[in-house]
Amino acid sequence: MAGNWKMYKNAEETSAFFEKFNPAVKGTAGREIVICPPFVNLPAAVAATRGSNVEIGGQNLYWEKEGAFTGEVSAPMLAAIGVRWVIIAHSERRQFFHETDETANKKIVAALAAGLKPIVCVGEMLADREGGNTETVLERQFKGGIAPLPADQFARIVVAYEPVWAIGTGKTATPQIAAEAHAFIRDQARSRFGHDAAQALRILYGGSVKPENAKELMAQEEIDGVLVGGASLKPDSFASIVNY
Ligand code: PGA
Repeated sequence: MAGNWKMYKNAEETSAFFEKFNPAVKGTAGREIVICPPFVNLPAAVAATRGSNVEIGGQNLYWEKEGAFTGEVSAPMLAAIGVRWVIIAHSERRQFFHETDETANKKIVAALAAGLKPIVCVGEMLADREGGNTETVLERQFKGGIAPLPADQFARIVVAYEPVWAIGTGKTATPQIAAEAHAFIRDQARSRFGHDAAQALRILYGGSVKPENAKELMAQEEIDGVLVGGASLKPDSFASIVNY
């Protein structure tokens, strides 16, 4: 159950969130809980979740370890401050910051090398879905970003299916639409990495997940978890999604 805070909250608001959120999800069994704040608030988030069952993730990284790359943050830098996860190739990164399947692959490799667990985002735009191209897009994203990984690296990633038309729009994919896309992604994984690896892959759904629809989405066998934007910003709403 992962929360993507995007470019929201300052350090004070970050600490205030965890004061309420940690007790609300304490003792939740069998669930991994991850929050991904903006870079500058990662230290505050790590400090506020120490000793709890909540882990912290970044929203992006650069694939080189260090160097003359103004404005970038590396995987070892994130790992060194206690960050455990990282979102890779979110659709907003693809749309606004020119990320590609090729850069996604480089970022996954860098994250894994530093011991971070990547949450790799895929998903089609509205025009792709309306044009009947959803599977073509998902296949291209899988083949370009994920398929080049060796099997041992593939075993350590989580995939998030986020249809772009459902992000921040209030339009959730129906559980059936989401489950179909997840099944397609799992088929891609099966053809490249085999049955067992594909079955073990965790696929999160993201796009207007709310306390009201989390249970129905999570009831789908194909949906292993959720990646939540807007509804992860309030401690009570994200806690109720976690405790669906
Ligand atoms: P949303 O965002 O829940 O606000 O639709 C999801 C995401 O972009 O990860």
